[in-house]
Amino acid sequence: MTEITLRRPDDWHLHLRDGDMLKAVLPFTVRQFSRAIVMPNLVPPVRTAAEAEAYRGRIGAAVPEGADFTPLMTCYLADDTDSDDLIRGHQSGAFTAAKLYPAGATTHSADGVTDIARIDGVLGRMEEAGMPLLVHGETTDPDVDVFDREAVFIDNTLKSMIERFPGLKVVLEHVTTIEGVDFVRAGGENLAATITVHHLMINRGAMFEGGIRPHLYCLPVAKRERHRLALRKAATSGEAKFFLGTDSAPHPVSAKEAARGCAGIFSAPAALELYAQVFDDEDALDKLEAFASLNGPAFYGLAVNEGTLTLKKQEGRVPGDVPVEGGEAVKPFHAGQTLAWTLGHELINGDDCDAC
Ligand code: DOR
Ligand code: ZN
Repeated sequence: MTEITLRRPDDWHLHLRDGDMLKAVLPFTVRQFSRAIVMPNLVPPVRTAAEAEAYRGRIGAAVPEGADFTPLMTCYLADDTDSDDLIRGHQSGAFTAAKLYPAGATTHSADGVTDIARIDGVLGRMEEAGMPLLVHGETTDPDVDVFDREAVFIDNTLKSMIERFPGLKVVLEHVTTIEGVDFVRAGGENLAATITVHHLMINRGAMFEGGIRPHLYCLPVAKRERHRLALRKAATSGEAKFFLGTDSAPHPVSAKEAARGCAGIFSAPAALELYAQVFDDEDALDKLEAFASLNGPAFYGLAVNEGTLTLKKQEGRVPGDVPVEGGEAVKPFHAGQTLAWTLGHELINGDDCDAC
């Protein structure tokens, strides 16, 4: 196959940030995806419907002219989340879903949930309302090895939470392990997972190849090769439970290249092209549309997008560092490297993009 046409895809897990960073990174997502689940871990986080509407407005103002993009907003759950505001926000369309960050699990999660039992009331109302819960599935127990945190969270927290709320729609975000994939497969239709392109492409060894590689550090951290292979199988299986979520998470270069570098991989500039490469390598291009464009909307109960997008097997290049006005650049995943698949004739801010 040298060309593939898909229904326009969506990104079901994205960090857009705010201000100048938002303006710098959003055009990359808009050229590939129609909609995106926008994560709420700003500083301070997006916790109320009014804050989500204000953030949606700032995103809307940063969308390049003439582009068609719908941000789907999420609520950052905390011990004291106001369930009335949350459910009203879901009913009004302010919130598509709510995100559970165990406090301290990852970037900007300090205000997250300290003990899931504290939000049982909120989860019960979400279950009733059919509002999806998006889970950062890692234990915060410092005694648990960082590579085991997903599996331990599933055993110690997620299993019992799902037993308490069997009707709750749950997405295990950025699944990284065999245990995670198996758990999702064994669950009901209301349990699904997103898979990032970086977890499909790198294992934990990649972070140390020839020296420490801070731009490949994210949370959950990449795991052993056998886990990566299981993720590739799941993503390319066509199963309805698995769908695309980049978890593209930009940080300024100096925040990554530091003694204590931030977690996050900025994959937005070439995410879809890299997913296509993975599916091609797995001989599963016929399953890409299900993963990228169909399974997510079906889970969320939304219509699939109108329109299509065509990827061509034609060499391109991932952009180098992306400048941010008044600040420091961000480095894309695979910066400057050759792409096997590219999107035809895409526009970024009205100019032909370097990658096309
Ligand atoms: O690597 C990550 N970066 N994982 C997360 O869970 C958060 C994200 C971020 O916001 O930078
Ligand atoms: Zn994320």
